Amino acid sequence: MDDNKIAEYGEKLKQLGIKNEVLKHPHLVKPIEVVTYLGQTLADSAATLLFIADGQPITLIRRDDVKISFSKVKKLLGIKDLRIASQEEFVKITGLPVGAARHYLPGVKQTIIDKKVFEKEYVLGGTGSFQHTIRLKSEDLKKLPNSSVTDIIEDDIAISQGLSGNKIKRVFSGIRATGRLHLGNYLGAVKGFLELEKTGQYETIYCVVDVHSITTPYKPEALRKNKREIIIDYLAAGLDPQKSLIIYQSDIPQHTELAFYFSTAETVARMQHLPTFKDKVKQYPHNVTMALLNYPILMAADILVYKTELVPVGIDQEPHLEVTREIARKMNQEYGMNFPEPIRFATKGSYVPSLSGEGKMSKTVEGSFINLTDSADVIRKKVRSVPTATTSGGEMNPGVKTLFAFADLFISSEVEKYKKDFENGTLQFVTLKDAIADAVYKELQPFQKKREEIIKDQAYIDKVIKEGAEKARSIASQTVAEVKEKMGLS
Ligand code: TRP
Repeated sequence: MDDNKIAEYGEKLKQLGIKNEVLKHPHLVKPIEVVTYLGQTLADSAATLLFIADGQPITLIRRDDVKISFSKVKKLLGIKDLRIASQEEFVKITGLPVGAARHYLPGVKQTIIDKKVFEKEYVLGGTGSFQHTIRLKSEDLKKLPNSSVTDIIEDDIAISQGLSGNKIKRVFSGIRATGRLHLGNYLGAVKGFLELEKTGQYETIYCVVDVHSITTPYKPEALRKNKREIIIDYLAAGLDPQKSLIIYQSDIPQHTELAFYFSTAETVARMQHLPTFKDKVKQYPHNVTMALLNYPILMAADILVYKTELVPVGIDQEPHLEVTREIARKMNQEYGMNFPEPIRFATKGSYVPSLSGEGKMSKTVEGSFINLTDSADVIRKKVRSVPTATTSGGEMNPGVKTLFAFADLFISSEVEKYKKDFENGTLQFVTLKDAIADAVYKELQPFQKKREEIIKDQAYIDKVIKEGAEKARSIASQTVAEVKEKMGLS
């Protein structure tokens, strides 16, 4: 889309009596990014949406901080069927690139403008180009041909506004409650969660996915204990319940409810072919349950029930995120939902190897992990157990490699010295192991001290869990209500 075409559009508006100014900016697709770049908010931007109403294209203009109410529009027009135009329809009808709609679309016979648009004197709008935005007097929009003004938005705008009143990206991550958190979770995941929380740029939701924990064999008593320990670990690691929602999955029944609705969007065959499913089948050949097959669907529900855009998880979870995006697309296409297609967020977290010398630290592999509450003695014993060679020098075996990986993480300034000793064949492994163990213990000290403080106040922990669940339910129930309405269930 070149500058000429944009200028032509500006001229066309002027002919209609709509004065305007074209603003140039870098290539930006998302409204939030455009308005932020221009120093405005979503409330200052009036988006044009192409809908199909009983087979006929119509345009709806609404502010970017609110949502269209399908039921209001249907009632207003006396129609049965209303849906967002598909990408193909959009291109065919407007001749513009998908996502670049503008207020005046000549191919469309009816334009309805939401009345809230006029609360602002000026509004921004699309131009057909991702590098240009138009600014005009709101009142002038009434001069668009075949347009009318009325109320067509949802009364409750909590979803698009979010918890903090600003539309900022939502982050969701889950940790299974199959055991206590260990050093690998702490450095690889929780520290990343903390970093995201601290930026203040996101709405962060951190969840103990206890329902996922029952998809493989488990003991109820152990689950009850572990899930609470993980919440305590989150708090001891420094997550702030004032800034993040810290929740149990099973406290928000909308996760499992939505998972059932989502299960209509995926086939059994698709689920059976996922690598994560195949691994579990190998691991537990006698427990290939419906719950296990549904695992990825429930995960999609965890993420989409909050309309999450960013998911900080390991690369091993990418197949599940693909399923999540697939479900989002299907729900949007079939039922006119507005689910985002969430992406994996690669946090800076480190990869922590297993003490066994094979793979990454894992709570399901005995002897592979250091618990966050381990004492100095226990840590020393565990690090000493890393299988190293009897003499140093020569090729590094997996155990020695593991040890040096730990050295990189915890005593980086001394690594060179130890490496030289190894090459010269003068390294005493126990010296290196004890140096690492001391450093790990030191790193965990603040965490352990904070944890001791927190467990003295069990009522506080209860309060965090209860309040988190209440806030989470209020968001989740809106999404489920919307899905039920669109799916014809209510
Ligand atoms: N499947 C994830 C894991 O094994 C845990 C999980 C469940 C999750 N639901 C989620 C992670 C939602 C991120 C978002 O690690």
